[in-house]
Amino acid sequence: MNLDEIGPWSEIKLDILRDYAAPYSRILKTNGFHHGYIDAFSGPGLHTRKAGGEEVLGSPLVALEVQPPFDEYHFIDLDGAKVDFLKRQVGSHPHVTFYNSGSNQVMLESVLPRFSYAKRTRALCVLDPYALTLNWEVVRAAGVSQAVEVFINFPVMQMNRNCKQVNISEILPGELQAMDRFWGDRSWHSAMFRPSAQQNLFGEEDLDKTENRDLVNAYCKRLNEVAGFGFVASPLAMRNSRKAIVYYLLFAGPNKTGWKIVQDIYRKYG
Ligand SMILES: C[S@@+](CC[C@H](N)C(=O)[O-])C[C@H]1O[C@@H](n2cnc3c(N)ncnc32)[C@H](O)[C@@H]1O
Repeated sequence: MNLDEIGPWSEIKLDILRDYAAPYSRILKTNGFHHGYIDAFSGPGLHTRKAGGEEVLGSPLVALEVQPPFDEYHFIDLDGAKVDFLKRQVGSHPHVTFYNSGSNQVMLESVLPRFSYAKRTRALCVLDPYALTLNWEVVRAAGVSQAVEVFINFPVMQMNRNCKQVNISEILPGELQAMDRFWGDRSWHSAMFRPSAQQNLFGEEDLDKTENRDLVNAYCKRLNEVAGFGFVASPLAMRNSRKAIVYYLLFAGPNKTGWKIVQDIYRKYG
């Protein structure tokens, strides 16, 4: 199988996961919680470093290395070849479940219901698709559970490439639907544009594009106010070699302790 080549911004994401998952697992275990790790867009578990070609562990294998171990692991990917490759990397492991399926449905029907505040079951969940394939309902269900912490890849470069039209009718229907599903409603458009200070030649109000920060901050506000995550970290901008923001890494959870640890880790990488 051809492994994906990844840039430094993807390796930073993996380092952040490594830095956070270890204290998370330790704290949960020490306090007697049954805790799981969910990789909802897991990939094959290995990548190739763009500069140099060395192998780099992907997020599911990073999670499996964490000490103390999680009590259960859920790895989901739509691509059967990647799931098979990952199964070979993991080998036989009694606490790992693989799903070769669309993540949104599996998450809502099979995985998230396993974790609840009342049952003292908790999970750390990585939501890292390539594109706008993550459904807001999944994020909302995680927030409502009060039992799940999430890292989310907020793909701002793709949003700007495909959805940045003042006039909604100029956005391709598929892109528009994907953006609505990701955001949960159409309010993303008013977060992406604001009324201009000037009127146009016809005396009508123009719209100006807001900054990337405004858009991601509006989504973070939804994580808090609509999905019900009590603690949302300041978004971390992940940049490519030309310093352009590829995506923001978001973190949201029900606990102040987790939020504080992530804020410290983000400061280190920011
Ligand atoms: C960016 S990669 C994940 C990389 C991984 N988090 C890591 O750091 O090693 C995204 C993965 O999502 C998978 N994917 C895309 N759409 C999906 C969907 N709807 N359901 C499940 N997996 C999907 C792709 O096949 C791909 O392997």
